[in-house]
Amino acid sequence: MTLYQHLITRRSTSVRLLSTPAPDDGQLEDILRVATRVPDHGKLAPWRIIVMREAGQKTLGDLAAEIFTSAHPDATPAQIEFERTRFMRAPLVLAVLSTPKLGKIPVWEQQLSVGCVCLNALYAAQALGFGANWLTEWPAFDTEILRALGGADGDHIAGFIYIGTATAKPDERPRPELHDIVRVLD
Ligand SMILES: Cc1cc2nc3c(=O)[nH]c(=O)nc-3n(C[C@H](O)[C@H](O)[C@H](O)COP(=O)(O)O)c2cc1C
Repeated sequence: MTLYQHLITRRSTSVRLLSTPAPDDGQLEDILRVATRVPDHGKLAPWRIIVMREAGQKTLGDLAAEIFTSAHPDATPAQIEFERTRFMRAPLVLAVLSTPKLGKIPVWEQQLSVGCVCLNALYAAQALGFGANWLTEWPAFDTEILRALGGADGDHIAGFIYIGTATAKPDERPRPELHDIVRVLD
């Protein structure tokens, strides 16, 4: 398949359809190299990636369950269990942090670059034959989760990239019509 054919047909896979096997350590390194080969004005590398396999997924899931339970004292055991296992929905999860540096390069540009990291991670995982999905959900907006991942003030969680083996081929989804979103300036 050419790169163009891959890009024009690839789709994300729902976490419900992600299973083992995960990328092995060599494939993970390939994914990380592609993920970080992105446009980056000023060569600041204003992003960090935290790799989570079983141990890390448990650590962060335990924290998510704790935060969820204190925010929702009437949470059901099923809801708490979902939070505890939230990061185990795929065998490999990359937490991608935006870590902009204040200075000459606008923070907005650095935040665009972290989006490229997320998308390249997705593309690389999919190109290697894995299923992947870029999700934020509430933990991406929680300060305690950010801190647990090593984020500081001004940093953000750009997303969690869930990666595994797809148990089914994702359906196509509608895409915007080009004429609705593109115009030629005369
Ligand atoms: C920054 C960002 C955050 C997202 N967060 C969520 C989310 O929390 N929950 C969700 O269901 N989809 C979320 N999505 C959408 C999924 O990634 C979705 O699977 C994706 O749009 C599918 O597109 P694709 O098939 O072209 O890869 C998010 C997308 C982006 C870009």
